[in-house]
Amino acid sequence: MCRTHTCGELRALHIGQTVTLSGWVDRIREHKNATFIDLRDRYGSTQVVIDQTASVELKTAARNLGNEYVIQVSGSVVQRGDQQTNTKLATGDIELQVQALVILNPSRNLPFLPSSTDPVGEEVRLEHRYIDLRRQSMQQTLLLRNRLTKLIRDYMDENQFIDVETPILGRSTPEGARDYLVPSRVQENCFYALPQSPQLYKQIMMIAGYDRYYQIARCFRDEDLRADRQPEFTQLDIEMSFVDHNDVMGLIDGLMVKLAKEVLGIELQTPLPRLTYDEAMRRFGHDAPDLRFGMEIVDCTDLARQSEFQVFRSVAEAGKFVRGLCVPNGGTALARRRIDQLTAFVKDSYNAKGLAWAKIEDDGQWSGSVAKNLPTAEQLRWNATMHAKPGDLLLWVADDWTITCKALHGLRKTLGAELKLYDPKSMHFSWVVEFPMFEHDPEEQRWVAMHHPFTAAKDEHVEFLESDPSRARAKAYDLVINGFEAGGGTIRIHDSGVQSLIFKLLGMSPEMAKDRFGFLLDALQCGAPPHGGIALGLDRVVMLFAGLDNIRDVIAFPKTQKATDLMTGAPGTVDEKQLRELRIAMVKPANS
Ligand code: AMO
Ligand code: AMP
Repeated sequence: MCRTHTCGELRALHIGQTVTLSGWVDRIREHKNATFIDLRDRYGSTQVVIDQTASVELKTAARNLGNEYVIQVSGSVVQRGDQQTNTKLATGDIELQVQALVILNPSRNLPFLPSSTDPVGEEVRLEHRYIDLRRQSMQQTLLLRNRLTKLIRDYMDENQFIDVETPILGRSTPEGARDYLVPSRVQENCFYALPQSPQLYKQIMMIAGYDRYYQIARCFRDEDLRADRQPEFTQLDIEMSFVDHNDVMGLIDGLMVKLAKEVLGIELQTPLPRLTYDEAMRRFGHDAPDLRFGMEIVDCTDLARQSEFQVFRSVAEAGKFVRGLCVPNGGTALARRRIDQLTAFVKDSYNAKGLAWAKIEDDGQWSGSVAKNLPTAEQLRWNATMHAKPGDLLLWVADDWTITCKALHGLRKTLGAELKLYDPKSMHFSWVVEFPMFEHDPEEQRWVAMHHPFTAAKDEHVEFLESDPSRARAKAYDLVINGFEAGGGTIRIHDSGVQSLIFKLLGMSPEMAKDRFGFLLDALQCGAPPHGGIALGLDRVVMLFAGLDNIRDVIAFPKTQKATDLMTGAPGTVDEKQLRELRIAMVKPANS
């Protein structure tokens, strides 16, 4: 037996017992009369001691140990002296007096130690992930992930959902990103696409009568990566028959209540708050607003239309918008230099033409970039509209709707964190509903589905589908946690005629629709129940529950921003023979 107990297990009640532990040498401390070793495994850490009563061989062996050696020690559990108990450690009442020590495997010098609190670059961590994963914070996160997944599976099971696996090698599903393609050796010139989501398979499961499906599914999307995106990621994927949007949102409300309670000890009130997409854009400039704090966008376009300030008036008269934020105490907290940086930020990141600003002085009058352009009486009217008080900072962006949304959202997010307008430990869950059915793609000059092409329109908006697609709102809902899109879903189209119409509106010819989605159109004609569903980004949910802001920290083996795996070196080159079998010829890059 390699061990009788784990390194997190021994307590005062074990005193006097002879035990064997195995684990990693976390820390070694040499004292004059003894060697102290913190022995670690994933359950905890135990202090083991080789003192002067030990044999010469044992003392020598102990002196030759190095960090991260894997060792086995046997001996008796003894009480620590009064001064020596460590209340921070679960095993802190005892220590192991070693009688035998075996080195199971030495370790060479490592680029960093799991026990060290010194910052380590992410590239080094990812390259040596086997060491990084030994760190307590990584272990806690992976355990949390395991716990969340188990709670989710239990909840789905309690609610009569069945877990069904769907193919990884399939046909392209249009979730909006680029596909990862896999060439077929057997079918010449043909490719599988890795699933961007199991969307079509889960709809087919509904048509097949399995009215409650779920899967913890791996999805693949070749898109530009960010801190909350990975090229392969995991969804909690759900589909239900004979439901409306309230049923799906109600199911997820219940799941969030359970997860928040069991994992964070937070009691959530349901139904979780809901905002329409239009309201979210109006009040926060974004479809996944962070509702942990206020500082809502104020529309000043009406004031601007009558303003003495030419820049504002001309923008408003041109049918565009003047919208702003009142930053509480921002006038006091933000120096001129910081405001200049924010101006550069909105210009560079969002193409805004400028950032107008004013600090509110004690008498309510303004100082700042636009103060001289507005007479005092007008300044006071703007203060009233924006609920500004002395010490606040007013910021405005005057531009088209989209730029004002993006720039003010960017400012709100940055300043919310910078000025600590919320408790970073707090959690806020909400829904954004009734998304537009379509967005216009100016490059391709056509409509594209905002969620995906299988989404049903609100009943009263079906009439707009052909007459005015921009007005049509969808039976769609996104779950938002702390300003992140944690999940998204829709009620689906279950009528093949309507589905064909949507394909047509998206610029697909009937032949193209038949070629790509013929199986769905056929299945929809064979007794398709009304159905809908949702997918939660499991990695994002874990990230948010763990209070982290980097999705790579909740995935055991993540990819970098450049979609590489630094430990294995994927993606890598392959043999000529493999390429020949797949009839793939490599083309040299133009600049080589
Ligand atoms: P959607 O594309 O909105 O919907 O994806 C659902 C959720 O998955 C997460 N997510 C990601 N997480 C990490 N890295 C990524 N690259 C990434 N992309 C998406 C997000 C997102 O909210 N089939 C539909 C769902 C449905 O309609 O039922 C779908 O995939 O948290
Ligand atoms: P100007 O009169 O050009 O010196 O501009 C005065 C202030 O208005 C400066 O702080 C500019 O950054 C700002 N500004 C100019 N154009 C815009 C705009 N479209 N939206 C917001 N602020 C602007």
